[in-house]
Amino acid sequence: MPRTHLVLDSAFTVGPVRRRLFGGFVEHLGRHVYDGIHEPAHESADEHGFRKDVIELVKELGVTTIRYPGGNFVSGYKWEDGVGPVEQRPRRLDLAWHSTETNEVGLHEFQQWLDSVGSELMLAVNLGTRGAAEAIELLEYANIPGGTARSEERKANGREEPFGITMWCLGNEMDGPWQLGHKNAEDYGKLAAMTAKAMRQIQPDLELVACGSSGASMPTFGEWERTVLEHAYEDVDYISAHAYYEEDQDLTSFLASGANMDHFIKTVTTAADHVQAHKGSDKRIDISFDEWNVWSITKWEAQQKTFTLDEWPVAPRLLEDVYTVADAVVLGGLLISLLRHADRVASASIAQLVNVIGPIMTEPGGEAWRQTTFFPFSVTSRLAHGTSLNVVASGDTIDGGKHGTVPVVDSAATVEDGHAAVFLVNRHQSESTTVTIDLSGLDVDGDVHAEGIWDDDLHAVNDLSNTSRVGLRTNESVRREGDTITIELPPVSWTALSIG
Ligand code: AHR
Repeated sequence: MPRTHLVLDSAFTVGPVRRRLFGGFVEHLGRHVYDGIHEPAHESADEHGFRKDVIELVKELGVTTIRYPGGNFVSGYKWEDGVGPVEQRPRRLDLAWHSTETNEVGLHEFQQWLDSVGSELMLAVNLGTRGAAEAIELLEYANIPGGTARSEERKANGREEPFGITMWCLGNEMDGPWQLGHKNAEDYGKLAAMTAKAMRQIQPDLELVACGSSGASMPTFGEWERTVLEHAYEDVDYISAHAYYEEDQDLTSFLASGANMDHFIKTVTTAADHVQAHKGSDKRIDISFDEWNVWSITKWEAQQKTFTLDEWPVAPRLLEDVYTVADAVVLGGLLISLLRHADRVASASIAQLVNVIGPIMTEPGGEAWRQTTFFPFSVTSRLAHGTSLNVVASGDTIDGGKHGTVPVVDSAATVEDGHAAVFLVNRHQSESTTVTIDLSGLDVDGDVHAEGIWDDDLHAVNDLSNTSRVGLRTNESVRREGDTITIELPPVSWTALSIG
């Protein structure tokens, strides 16, 4: 049986776990907003048309900051279409997802929903078909108390107080040829700098995110970040990172996805630090990992088809991945990678939340339920508090396919006020593995409890036919003797320990 030994010590720290690490993402895409979070005819709808059963699940998931309204969608979006009397709002073509956008939900309604779920808004501006002028009008509308055309318009639209939005994304995936208004790094870097400067002339303390690469496999990866930041370094606070992982008939590589995320984070921070050195700047740029998840992107690409001129559905079923146990284990591993880099990842958004590659699914007029991936996210968000520890690990390694040799067990840990949490993934496909944890460097007394996700059927799912086939299980093998914890992890499993 493979073995792993972990040493936790309060002197070995990565950095504080910022709550924004557990953010989410809602895009106007498919059945995410319409027939997802918003379904006025549903029996659980509140007075604004938002499903209360979904609100409860989003709260339970524990998402903090939520990025909105896209994604690819934002690169063709006119924010003005989504404010004012709902019955007068235009229906528009959404070119990104070949759909009709009804604009029934816009900034005001979405903020109402966020108030119900208790999350912070992270707003993206359109730098695809639009530019700095429209971005500053939106900022004026959202954040200026009153006395100007746009701020008075907001009041007339029913919102007396400003929205007070702090975190803003300067466009979305502008490196991607699929993006409306796709630009090269030079052009985007200049536009991001100009937009950021203009926005700061209204409100200097905004937190601004420049677009990084839309994936580590982009041909411009690394060089894109360097060039954009050469132009925008002093004007922005964060550079974005996006990464999606899929099994695609290669479980070995899939289970090692966290190692790829580690490498991604290292490359982006290296590019940012290179520019910092080059500019002799005191400022450090951290990462907003504002799209990450498991997504069967190969299957999605294969389904692409040519549309006719009259085919613009409202809220079609798009990107409705049904997640497996293996997907949940990998997602737990990606959270381990984010925690391990809590010093440089300031914020992260699971992409996305409901129906569209989401941990939550709904049926129109029917149930809302938790996908397998819901569990590692909700437990990690609930338990990971305080300081992320630099876990000193020794033990067996395993083939991680295209990601090289990786530890059999991946791990992260946090500690706060006499409580610790340890997150573990066993990547071995056929063998259980024993983990021992030395706690002598931590001031944490009390019992240990272990819960997680594993199953004899790695491809078991929760779907309409059985919405609770997969759920959290208690690992009864965990023992604490003095300062040593011992646990046996089943093959292909994700586990969280709560200590103290
Ligand atoms: O999350 C789905 C899509 O993936 C987003 O719209 C886009 O930003 C990314 O390519």
